[in-house]
Amino acid sequence: MSTTIALLLVHLHLLLCGHGAAAVAATATPPPLPVLPVPSYAQLQWQLSEMALFIHFGPNTFTDSEWGSGHADPAVFAPSALDAGQWARVAAEGGFGRVVLTAKHHDGFCLWPSALTDYSVAASPWRGGAGDVVGELSAAARAEGIGLGLYLSPWDRHEPVYGDTVAYNEHYMGQMTELLTRYGDVEEVWLDGAKGDDTYMDYMFDAWFALIHQLQRRVVIFSDAGPDTRWVGDEAGIAGRTCWSPFNKTVVTIGHIIPEYSQSGDQFGEEWVPAECDVSIRPGWFWHASEKPKSAVTLLDIYYKSVGRNCLLILNVPPNSSGLISDEDMQVLQEFTEIRRTIFSHNFAANATGTASSVRGGLENLQFAPSNTLRDSIYSYWAPQEGQTSWEMLFDLGRSTSFNLLQLQEPIQMGQRVIEFHVDVLLGGLWQTILEGTTIGYKRLLRFPAVDARYLKLYVDSARADPLIAFVGVFMDPFSDAYGLDHEKPSHTNSSEVIMLRRGHAAGNRSTATM
Ligand SMILES: *[C@@H]1O[C@H](CO)[C@@H](O)[C@H](O)[C@H]1NC(C)=O
Ligand SMILES: *[C@@H]1O[C@H](CO)[C@@H](O)[C@H](O)[C@H]1NC(C)=O
Ligand SMILES: *[C@@H]1O[C@H](CO)[C@@H](O)[C@H](O)[C@H]1NC(C)=O
Ligand SMILES: *[C@@H]1O[C@H](CO)[C@@H](O)[C@H](O)[C@H]1NC(C)=O
Ligand SMILES: *[C@@H]1O[C@H](CO)[C@@H](O)[C@H](O)[C@H]1NC(C)=O
Repeated sequence: MSTTIALLLVHLHLLLCGHGAAAVAATATPPPLPVLPVPSYAQLQWQLSEMALFIHFGPNTFTDSEWGSGHADPAVFAPSALDAGQWARVAAEGGFGRVVLTAKHHDGFCLWPSALTDYSVAASPWRGGAGDVVGELSAAARAEGIGLGLYLSPWDRHEPVYGDTVAYNEHYMGQMTELLTRYGDVEEVWLDGAKGDDTYMDYMFDAWFALIHQLQRRVVIFSDAGPDTRWVGDEAGIAGRTCWSPFNKTVVTIGHIIPEYSQSGDQFGEEWVPAECDVSIRPGWFWHASEKPKSAVTLLDIYYKSVGRNCLLILNVPPNSSGLISDEDMQVLQEFTEIRRTIFSHNFAANATGTASSVRGGLENLQFAPSNTLRDSIYSYWAPQEGQTSWEMLFDLGRSTSFNLLQLQEPIQMGQRVIEFHVDVLLGGLWQTILEGTTIGYKRLLRFPAVDARYLKLYVDSARADPLIAFVGVFMDPFSDAYGLDHEKPSHTNSSEVIMLRRGHAAGNRSTATM
């Protein structure tokens, strides 16, 4: 063997092993088995998109109402400057991975020219009756590289056959077919079970779901009871502190949920049905000249309690009667984006060194090394050696650092595992617990009073199977403290208790609650 080749081999060896690391085993260690249930491809894409922008728009925008009667003259629909490109840009720039439009709200007015009704944009003066809001938004979303979702209200206060079960289910499925065959990929179909109090109507959900899945292979269907994502159970955008994606669909039906169950999910759940948190930036779902948007700091708080609790946040930002998102809403969304950028662009653990009580395949095995948790991806993770009874990770931040926010993530493609955990920091030579929590899931954001520390320990206290950790981030949020928001306090009583926040908000969607 020539010297050059030998040197090359040594060099290659160093490259493969990393400097100073002992030789790795000749063959790789396979990943551990997943723990069922696990997400589908579409559910994973949904979760990775983190936030969706909800667009409530239609005749209500022009008549200053929330629930149209179904008898507004189509001539009222006359936005002077509608620009779906603006909606999609606002979404993409604000970090929303998808945009969901009310293609038809309870008033029955269709924002696309449906062949099955004369109550649509085709009967309005907008674009001379040749307009198609769904078509314009679908093109705009594609141009911005974000997903499209559509809401087709089951309740229809205009359609004459509403109330005739067979005829209306045929009508509804006909409209659904138009929406899912004319506009390319649709990533989400958003359904509630809204019904009029005065009309008997039986919705054939199973047939609807089968049709939707048949026409769109990347779609997730949202409803009170899944099948793909579940309503969190309130319209405040807030999930339970304990929030499992596993869930039993049989425990709820559309229109009959148990708010506590929907907010916290089910450690023993047999199906993967993660929660989606809906809330409006304004008091109403539709735009009203008299209403103002929430502040950016309020949105940040909602973000912590939705995205930061293993959910997707669907934030409604209703366009005004010109057909544009108002300046004041854009201002708030820009501040919200800037605040998140400020906080999350400084991860104090980015250059930390991590060690763990054990590593799958041996302490020197880089495939499942603790350092994987410092990379922002759920596809590389720390895995412990099998058969352990305690799981600990230690992080050295390199120097004493002030922080008040922690981000934890599990590789959910392997199932949701962590039941309970706690975090200690070294303060004045003593390890002190700064927080205790239940469930991590895709993403958990945890706030606590600021500490100055260099060393941090994560203990997983119980898990459904060997815990896997994909990401650990350490941040400083200077915004929430200044506004006196509540903290995630360690509960010194019993950390496995499910703490439900704001029970009062759990009254539910009025129409579904009265079904
Ligand atoms: C969900 O299903 C599992 C498995 O059948 C069961 O153990 C668990 O108790 C169920 N949860 C509820 C709330 O019924
Ligand atoms: C709608 O918002 C745009 C800004 O995007 C603004 O120029 C316009 O005046 C607003 N229209 C109404 C009716 O408030
Ligand atoms: C981590 O290291 C990179 C590259 O040396 C540096 O740019 C960054 O500021 C460091 N981050 C922290 C939080 O120390
Ligand atoms: C904590 O609460 C859970 C659920 O209520 C209970 O099963 C457990 O025994 C409690 N643990 C302690 C230490 O009180
Ligand atoms: C239910 O909530 C959706 C959005 O979350 C809203 O569009 C709809 O109007 C609500 N239904 C009723 C009847 O309040």
